[in-house]
Amino acid sequence: MKREWVVTKDGSPSLFVPDLNQNYHSHHGALQESRHVFIEAGLKQFSSQAEVSILEIGFGTGLNALLSHFEKAKFEQDIHYHSLEKYPLEKDEWQSIQWPTLFDSKPEYQLFYRALHQAPWELETALSPNFKLVKNNCDLKDFNPVHNRYDLIYFDAFSPEAQPKLWSEAIFKKMQLALKPGGYLVSYCVKGSVRRAMKAAGLEVAKIPGPPGKREMARALKP
Ligand SMILES: C[S@@+](CC[C@H](N)C(=O)[O-])C[C@H]1O[C@@H](n2cnc3c(N)ncnc32)[C@H](O)[C@@H]1O
Repeated sequence: MKREWVVTKDGSPSLFVPDLNQNYHSHHGALQESRHVFIEAGLKQFSSQAEVSILEIGFGTGLNALLSHFEKAKFEQDIHYHSLEKYPLEKDEWQSIQWPTLFDSKPEYQLFYRALHQAPWELETALSPNFKLVKNNCDLKDFNPVHNRYDLIYFDAFSPEAQPKLWSEAIFKKMQLALKPGGYLVSYCVKGSVRRAMKAAGLEVAKIPGPPGKREMARALKP
């Protein structure tokens, strides 16, 4: 897959896929989107738990995993991070990325970022005493989740315009089965057809304020 680095409006980098006309993150700001949608509206809702189990759709640059480790509410909270990725970045791609505001003053972010990418695929790896990672190089369409396994799903696929089959009722039914009761699925996408597919799959969908530049995002609860 041909990809190009771009700089988003908050100064943080992202990737662009010309063939799909898709960005990996919001052009308004990759870092602020990831923090708002996945960390604040997702992970921090589970601050009182000693352990949080996360499923991510689309590992990509690893930004969501990186922030989940460093920006959770309490350092001692254990994170079990399971990420699916069909088109992993090449080594030269992830090595060339610089998240200036993260890496310049905090070398531990850069070290952890490298560890996220160097971790083997398909095996569980403890990247720190509080962070266990499993990356699967697979297609979401072929994924059969264990039921009632995850507290939280980061649904971060390319847009429904580019990948309509990934935003279907059938996929959200898998997500609904994968979530624990009381678990959340969070996504940057709040399109009507997507919310209807989530609802048909048994999720209770709320539109909540989105990151700068986007009015709303979706947070769906498994009752
Ligand atoms: C919007 S990007 C987000 C990536 C990542 N969360 C990040 O912050 O960099 C979408 C990601 O989904 C991956 N993807 C696309 N189709 C997929 C599929 N069918 N199954 C699993 N992953 C897929 C892409 O390769 C890409 O990494």
